[in-house]
Amino acid sequence: MGDKLRGLGRSATLPKKLFIKSYGCQMNVYDSERMVDVLRPMGYRPVAEAEDADLVILNTCHIREKAVEKVYSELGRLKIIKELRAQRGDRMLVAIAGCVAQAQGFQIVRRQPTVDIVFGPQTYHRLPDYVTRALEDNARVVDTEFPAEAKFDLLPKERHAMTPAAFLTIQEGCDRFCSFCVVPYTRGAEFSRSVDDIVKEARALIASGVREVTLLGQNVNAYHGKLASRSATPVWRLGRLLRHLEAIDGLERLRYATSHPKDVDEELIAAHRDVEKLMPFLHLPVQSGSDKVLRSMNRQHTADDYRELIDKIRKVRPDIALSSDFIVGFPGETDEDFAETLRLIRDINFVRSFSFKYSARPGTPAAGIPNQIEDHVRAMRLSELQAVLNAQHQIFNEACVGKTFSVLLEKQGRHAGQLVGRSPYMQAVHVDAPDAAIGDIVSVKLMNVGVNSLGGDLVRQNINAPESRTLGLRSAEGIKTEVNSV
Ligand code: SAH
Ligand code: SF4
Ligand code: F3S
Repeated sequence: MGDKLRGLGRSATLPKKLFIKSYGCQMNVYDSERMVDVLRPMGYRPVAEAEDADLVILNTCHIREKAVEKVYSELGRLKIIKELRAQRGDRMLVAIAGCVAQAQGFQIVRRQPTVDIVFGPQTYHRLPDYVTRALEDNARVVDTEFPAEAKFDLLPKERHAMTPAAFLTIQEGCDRFCSFCVVPYTRGAEFSRSVDDIVKEARALIASGVREVTLLGQNVNAYHGKLASRSATPVWRLGRLLRHLEAIDGLERLRYATSHPKDVDEELIAAHRDVEKLMPFLHLPVQSGSDKVLRSMNRQHTADDYRELIDKIRKVRPDIALSSDFIVGFPGETDEDFAETLRLIRDINFVRSFSFKYSARPGTPAAGIPNQIEDHVRAMRLSELQAVLNAQHQIFNEACVGKTFSVLLEKQGRHAGQLVGRSPYMQAVHVDAPDAAIGDIVSVKLMNVGVNSLGGDLVRQNINAPESRTLGLRSAEGIKTEVNSV
C-alpha cells in the first residue's frame, strides 16, 4: 500500500507518455481504452508513437498463430528502442497484456528480458500497482489471475470517449468451446455485467460526446445480466437490454458484437423489429456451411439452422445486412465441405465478412484431429472464398449508390473540409462537409464506390444536433489498433 501511494504521489505531478497497441478483437480495443482510464490518475496520457513513451502496452491476441507472431516481432522492435533509450538514461517500461499474456504468462518474462509486466484481461484494474512495483522496486510483474472480484466494479466510473462511436463491454468469456478456439481458455467462463452498471457506463459515454454504442462480448448474445449486481433481481437477455438502452437520451445508434447463432432468441429477433436505434446490420459468424465440419467444430447448429434463423430475422427486418466470419481448411474439410460453404455464402449474401485459414491452437481439441489440411490447400480455398465474398460486398456497395443514409462522422478525411463516417451498414463514407463536426450525424447521398470506402454528397447536416460538438471529440489517437486483421 505504502509503495502504491508513493508511486501515485510522485507520478501524479509529471505527465507521462503511454503508448498502447491493441491487437485482435473489439474487446481488446475496449480494454485498451479502459487501461488509459486506469492510468490517467497516475499522470499517463496516450501518445501516437512508441519511440518516446514511458510505458508501452501491447494488448495482444492469441486467436491465430500469426496474431502471436506479430506481437513477438513488435517486441523485437521495442527491444531496440528500449536499449537506445536506456543509453540516454531514460527508462521505458514494456507490458504485455491481453490473451497472449493470459496464455503464456511466466514464459514471456522468462524468454523476453525486454518485458517488465505481463497481465491478463481480467486484472488490468491493478495496473497502477504493477507500474509502481516495476518502477520503484525494479520488479518484473506477472498477473494472470481470474480474480473473484469483478474487474468492472473496480474500474474508474468516468469514461473519456475517444470517438463518437464507442464500445461497451457487457459480457466476457465464453462457455461454447468451439473446438478450434482459444477464447474460453484466455477469457474464461461467461460473465454478464448488471443492467444498472451498463446503463451507468452508457450514460457516462453519452455525457462525453458518444452517439453510437456497440455492446461487446466474446459471445454477446449469451448475455444474461441481473438488474443490479449481487442481487436476486431477474435476469435480462440481450433483447430486453437493447430495448432498455434505447430510452437513453442522446444515444442515437446501437449495435452489438459478436454473437453465436445458437444464442439468438425470439426476444433478440423482436428487438431487430422494434428497437429503432438498433442498426440494420448483424455480424453473426457461421464459420462453415458443411454440417460435418460444423459438428466437428462443436458449433451446435447446422447450415440449415443458420439459413432458417436468417430467414426469421429478415422477415422482421427486411433491410438487415449480414456479416460473418469463416474458417477454411478446418481439419478434415474436403472439397465437398468447402463447396457447401460457398453454397451457404451464395444463399445468404453477406455484405462484409472476415475469413481466415484454420490455425491449430495449442490446447484446443481441433489441434489434435489427425486430418490437418496442408497449407497450400488452405491458402487456395481462402482466396477462392474471399473472391466470392468480395464480389458480394462489391455488389452490395454498388447497390447503395444513389441511396441516402445517415452517417455518423467519426474522423477527419484526407483533405480540408472532408470527414469520414459510418453508414448504418458499417460502410466507411467520405463526405465534404466543411461546416460539420466529428460526432454529427448527417444525411448523405452515396455517389461512388472505392476499394475500401464510399463517397457521398451531403444532403442534410445535423440530423440530431449534437451537444458533443463542444466536447472536442477526436479520433482515437494513442491507441493503435489491428482489429481482426491477422
Ligand atoms: N466470439 C466470436 C469471435 C471469436 S474470434 C465468435 O464466436 O464468433 C473471431 C474469429 O476468429 C472467429 O469467428 C473465427 O472465425 C476465427 N477463429 C477463431 N479461432 C480460429 C482458429 N484457430 N483458426 C482460424 N480462425 C479462427
Ligand atoms: Fe470462440 Fe466464439 Fe466459439 Fe466462443 S463462440 S468458443 S468465442 S468462436
Ligand atoms: Fe484475440 Fe483474445 Fe479477442 S484471443 S480475438 S484478443 S478474445
